Amino acid sequence: MTGTPFCWDALGHLHHAVRTGEAGISRLHPGGWIGYLDVHPGQRAIFQAAMTAKAHDDIAAVLDAHDFSGYRRICDVGGGHGHLLKAVLDRYAETSGALFELPVVAAEIPSTRRFDVVAGDFFTDPLPDADLYVLMNVVHDWDDNSAVAILSAVGQARRGAAVLLLEAVMPEGPQRHWSKTLDVLMLAVTGGRERTLTEYRDLLSAAGIDLAGTTPTATPFSIMHGHTRHIPADSAASAGISSAPHTQEAALRPASSRHFHGSGIRPSHRTGRLRCTDDGIRPGGHERPR
Ligand SMILES: C[S@@+](CC[C@H](N)C(=O)[O-])C[C@H]1O[C@@H](n2cnc3c(N)ncnc32)[C@H](O)[C@@H]1O
Repeated sequence: MTGTPFCWDALGHLHHAVRTGEAGISRLHPGGWIGYLDVHPGQRAIFQAAMTAKAHDDIAAVLDAHDFSGYRRICDVGGGHGHLLKAVLDRYAETSGALFELPVVAAEIPSTRRFDVVAGDFFTDPLPDADLYVLMNVVHDWDDNSAVAILSAVGQARRGAAVLLLEAVMPEGPQRHWSKTLDVLMLAVTGGRERTLTEYRDLLSAAGIDLAGTTPTATPFSIMHGHTRHIPADSAASAGISSAPHTQEAALRPASSRHFHGSGIRPSHRTGRLRCTDDGIRPGGHERPR
C-alpha cells in the first residue's frame, strides 16, 4: 500500500507536514485522506485490502491476549471489512456484533445473522448499542480534536460499556519502536499521530472513558481497555475542547496543548516525532509544552 499514490504522494509532502502539522495528503485533496479515497475508489479498495492483510497477525495476537467471552454484543467502530469482528465472532459463538463503517465501505460487506453492518459516520451518527466497543487503528488516524470526537461517540453510546483501543502505544522514552515510524506515516498520510499511554489516557478521559489498563500483545500493538462514564453531550465543549483555528502558529505547537487548552488536561511530551527547526528537520525532538 505504501507504494500507491495515496501513500507515496502524501509522503512526498512530508516536509510540508512537518513544517505545518497539516497532513501531507491535504496538498493532494482538500478533503484529506477520506476525501482523497472518495475520488479514487481503486485506491480505496487497495487501502481496505491492505488493512485486512496487515491485521492478520495483530488479530491473532489480540485473540490470544484478550478474553471476549463476557460480551454479548460487540461494536467494531471503523472496522474496515470486519476482519477483527469476524475473527472474534468465529471464536465466541455466543456473541454477536455490529460493524460500524462509512456507507461506501459498509456497502461492500454483507450482514449475517450475528454480524450486522451499520453504515454511518462516527463524527455525526450515533453508534449501535453494544456492551463492548472496539477501535483498532482508528484513533491514530486523527488529530486530537477528531480523536476526542470519535471517542465521545463511544463515550455517549452506553453507560458502563467496555472499550478496547488497539494501537501501537508509543514509549514515553526515546527508544526504538515501530510506533515512531508509523507516526511519521500518519503525519503525512492522514494527519493523525501515534501517542503515548498518557496521551491516550487524556483523550479517553476527555471523551468520558476511563482507562483501566493496558495489555501488551505479541505484536507491537497493545490493547488499552476501559469503560464509558457516559458524560453529557456538551461536556467536551465545557471541558474546553474546541475546534481551534488551524493557524500555522497553532499547528507548530504540540497537538495536545493545542487541543486541550483550558481543559485541565496537561499536554504530555511528544516523543520521537520529527521536529522542524530553522536549519532543517531533526528527528526525535521534544517540543516544549506551552
Ligand atoms: C485505518 S482503517 C482501520 C480499519 C480496521 N479497524 C483495522 O484496523 O484493520 C480506519 C477505518 O476507519 C473508517 N472510517 C474513517 N472515517 C470514518 C467515519 N467518519 N465513520 C466511520 N468509519 C470511518 C475507514 O473507512 C477505515 O476502514
